[in-house]
Amino acid sequence: MLYLEGEFYMKVTVCIGSSCHLKGSRYVVETLQKLVDDNNLSDKVTLGGTFCLGKCQQGVCVNVDEDFHSVTPETVVEFFEKEIKARV
Ligand code: FES
Repeated sequence: MLYLEGEFYMKVTVCIGSSCHLKGSRYVVETLQKLVDDNNLSDKVTLGGTFCLGKCQQGVCVNVDEDFHSVTPETVVEFFEKEIKARV
């Protein structure tokens, strides 16, 4: 969790490097953004992109705060429920 201006934020960073892009990072980002909005979590979760995290074989690579996760377009909803919604 990140502490900013009196509030705690969960920082979610999705790799948008070329390997992760080919594995669907754009879809993962768009789905996470929609889920964050639909669950009214935009004031608690900051969503951003990053270049290659050096773990291309495990993409789509997503960091939640400092924790690394491997996400696919097929698992992004489950990932959101378990690692973001349940923990924020
Ligand atoms: S492109 Fe995502 S980890 Fe390398």
